[in-house]
Amino acid sequence: MEKQCDALHLMHGSMFVLLERFVVDTYDHSTWLKLLEWAGVEHTSFQMHEMYPTHEIFAIVGCLGESTEQPVFDLMEQFGEFMVPDLMLLYSRYVRPEWRTYEMLINTEDAMHGAVRREDNRTNPPKLLVTKKGVDQLMIEYSSKRRMAGVAVGIVKGIASYFDESDKVEVMLLSPADAERVQIKVDFLN
Ligand code: HEM
Repeated sequence: MEKQCDALHLMHGSMFVLLERFVVDTYDHSTWLKLLEWAGVEHTSFQMHEMYPTHEIFAIVGCLGESTEQPVFDLMEQFGEFMVPDLMLLYSRYVRPEWRTYEMLINTEDAMHGAVRREDNRTNPPKLLVTKKGVDQLMIEYSSKRRMAGVAVGIVKGIASYFDESDKVEVMLLSPADAERVQIKVDFLN
């Protein structure tokens, strides 16, 4: 029980390193330093292979939302979208060259999140249940007590953009954004 709680309260350093990259790239380095201070985060650098408290992501993004007057969900989505090229690079050995958005989404749970869990058993990526609904629709059920549906929607959009398929992939969140279990509908237009 305690181990499960620890696993959920801590998140892989890659997420924090990529959040820093997102803020510095979208704003600048001094914004990042100010956010850490406002959010009460004491360390000033994050390491890829360490684990850090999940609530620090919410605190940092919450402060960014307040200072830029943007909804946290939108920022989480932008962050998710932004991180895809780096995630794909970090875990490139698990991606088959013939995969595009559709195959990537079908295979994320086993190939990608599976690899994340195997490579580091301290991690606990969200459960993704991806179901084929006909030939041009996928339904993704995302479940995580961390409730990061905004990041999930952003990653799906980021994957479409990574494969240069944004114009034919429509992503729609069908559940309340702060739910523990949400459904994301992905339509592939011809
Ligand atoms: C390119 C393939 C992907 C890679 C390499 C990847 C990798 C990761 C990693 C390393 C984490 C941190 C896990 C932890 O600290 O426990 C994570 C978390 C997360 N992933 Fe993925 N992921 C991928 C695809 C996806 C997709 C397609 C979605 C959404 C449908 C998604 C949604 C999330 C969310 C929302 C989190 C934040 C933690 C949480 O919600 O519990 N990921 N992912």
